[in-house]
Amino acid sequence: MTRNDEKRQAAEAALAYVDDDSIVGVGTGSTVAYFIEALAGMRRRIRGAVSSSEQSTQLLKKHGIEVMDLNAVGPLELYVDGADECDPHKRLIKGGGAALTREKIVAAASRRFVCIIDASKQVDLLGSFPLPIEVIPMARSHVGRQISKLGGHPVWRDGTVTDNGNWIIDVHGLRIIDPPALETELNQIAGVVTVGLFAHRKADVVLVGNRTL
Ligand code: A5P
Repeated sequence: MTRNDEKRQAAEAALAYVDDDSIVGVGTGSTVAYFIEALAGMRRRIRGAVSSSEQSTQLLKKHGIEVMDLNAVGPLELYVDGADECDPHKRLIKGGGAALTREKIVAAASRRFVCIIDASKQVDLLGSFPLPIEVIPMARSHVGRQISKLGGHPVWRDGTVTDNGNWIIDVHGLRIIDPPALETELNQIAGVVTVGLFAHRKADVVLVGNRTL
């Protein structure tokens, strides 16, 4: 079984969490692309979706699924999204696709977060995947210096502009022993928009291929 097979399996398994007549929060990435494809097969049974990125909005529309404004329809029952890393407590690193801010907003506004991954994303300790942080452009160097003081190695994702017009710093070399504490600490740095640690609002259900955690 390939990684893509596992992603597709997890994406299809997530359909079981979608209620008739509901509005579904939809994440971003290659695993979510499989979910959108699967959701299209039942699009007449749902009212629509709230999207976490321009990329997912395009895909949803292409599949005939109406995209709605979170301000008009939230809170939501369900958010489905992938992850870059997932620990045994269902805490995540996200943002490899630079969509972390809107992902965090939709996850926060949803009652249940179902995370869909392949087995390569499972880790005992978060941090091997560089931690993405969205920053206001003028704060890039300042945030980088604060991260260095905490022992991380900040690398600017040069050329990437988020859907919100901001920049991404990827933090290498972290062993994240206490994810909620680090999320809180990084959130305090002036100029940080969003930290790609989903520890306070972690996943409720994790689907790894056809396994449920
Ligand atoms: C997007 O910013 C990320 O948070 C994605 O959810 C994450 O990178 C997973 O993407 P894949 O499903 O493509 O691995």
